[in-house]
Amino acid sequence: MNSIKAIRGMNDILPSAVGAWQSIERQMRTLLASFGYEEIRPPIVERTELFRRSIGEITDIVEKEMYTFDDRNGDSLSLRPECTASIARAAIQSGLLRTPGQRVWAMGPMFRHERPQKGRYRQFHQLDVEILGIADASAEAELIVMSRRLWRMLGIDDPVLEVNSLGDRTIQKRYRKELVEYFSSRSAELDDDCRRRLQTNPLRILDSKNPAMQPLIEAAPRIVDRLDPAALGHFERLEAMLGEAGVEYRINPRLVRGLDYYTGTVFEWTTDALGAQSAVCGGGRYDDLIADIGGSASPAIGFAIGLERLVALLELSGVEPSIPVPHAYLAGIGEAGERSAHAVAERLRDAISDLRLIVDAESASLKAKLKRANRSGARFAFLLGEEEIRDGALTVRDLRKDTPQSSISLEGISALIAAADAAPTPALPDH
Ligand code: HAM
Repeated sequence: MNSIKAIRGMNDILPSAVGAWQSIERQMRTLLASFGYEEIRPPIVERTELFRRSIGEITDIVEKEMYTFDDRNGDSLSLRPECTASIARAAIQSGLLRTPGQRVWAMGPMFRHERPQKGRYRQFHQLDVEILGIADASAEAELIVMSRRLWRMLGIDDPVLEVNSLGDRTIQKRYRKELVEYFSSRSAELDDDCRRRLQTNPLRILDSKNPAMQPLIEAAPRIVDRLDPAALGHFERLEAMLGEAGVEYRINPRLVRGLDYYTGTVFEWTTDALGAQSAVCGGGRYDDLIADIGGSASPAIGFAIGLERLVALLELSGVEPSIPVPHAYLAGIGEAGERSAHAVAERLRDAISDLRLIVDAESASLKAKLKRANRSGARFAFLLGEEEIRDGALTVRDLRKDTPQSSISLEGISALIAAADAAPTPALPDH
């Protein structure tokens, strides 16, 4: 029978890789809590209508990339391609918006039917962070300094920060008209994709990666030059705050983002270390979205980090994730030892909080069991035979040091583990 494979672009994160993920997730949770953010867990499936109304009908995501299906009631549902819309919906539905200044985050899989390549997948993971109910540019500055702190906490070089302002809907409408006039007058020079975008979503022409389009795009009118005094004031306030905090950034007048809900500030952290998929984090302000999906108008801003890209960056930077190794591998020797192994393990777990202990699971020779203990990565092997049961002790071998084995009473094991935790774990010897 042929074997069943995972769906293209949807990857297993195997035990050998999951340590890096857990390490990143742990550090993110610590950082978010320290800034006063709380977790929210919206569902993975939503009504398709939610994404149409928020991300926009005429965007690549909604037109081409959503996993959409009718459920058994005939309702059109979609796997979430992102989760800002879900958080906004949840906030409206649960009354979260009654308290302004809600700081929330969500983490989990998102789904987009894009062409898979390195750094771009059909199931990928995001950390999504949102501030709901704050109109001041201070919210932008907070998100940006927090993300910078995250890069440093993880030990990766700061990616490059690009910012832009898209103005409000009135400015966008006027600017779109101006862009259409400009590109229409040069339509003979546009490639097929840009000609299509001219009809559907002209702002997205600015996002074209085709080198032949660049001179035309460079010469196009810039939205930053069309901002009204309010939008300009907001942007300048953000620039002042970033300047004070020593955040380096570049204004990229062509940064338009692929989702239609943005108004005002947009930003991306990009890196050239990852090839074509250079954005590690993207976000911006979406002051109209909450009203667009039926809530009472409320400003909001957020960003999302692509975790696959972050894991790849961490790998490139050579930072070893700090994954705790098991403290010990307990092997019962002989019939009596094997029969008592779980009972002794439970006594140890009761006595030592956070003990990481693996119990050997199959009858084998002592040599084979020690080999398994070594392979488990544990610091110590605990051997339990008839003699140890009689003495209420364990024979302990340090798997990282060439010291003779010793007999330690069950009570004495606590001190051994505490001492091991207090010192750095020695590297695994070569076998
Ligand atoms: P986005 O720019 O579409 O924004 O995605 C954010 C990040 O998710 C990207 O910078 C990238 O790192 C990662 N990402 C996106 N698509 C893929 C993919 N196919 N494979 C791997 N990684 C991917 C949003 O999703 C907005 N919801 C961000 C936001 C939050 N805006 C306001 N609040």
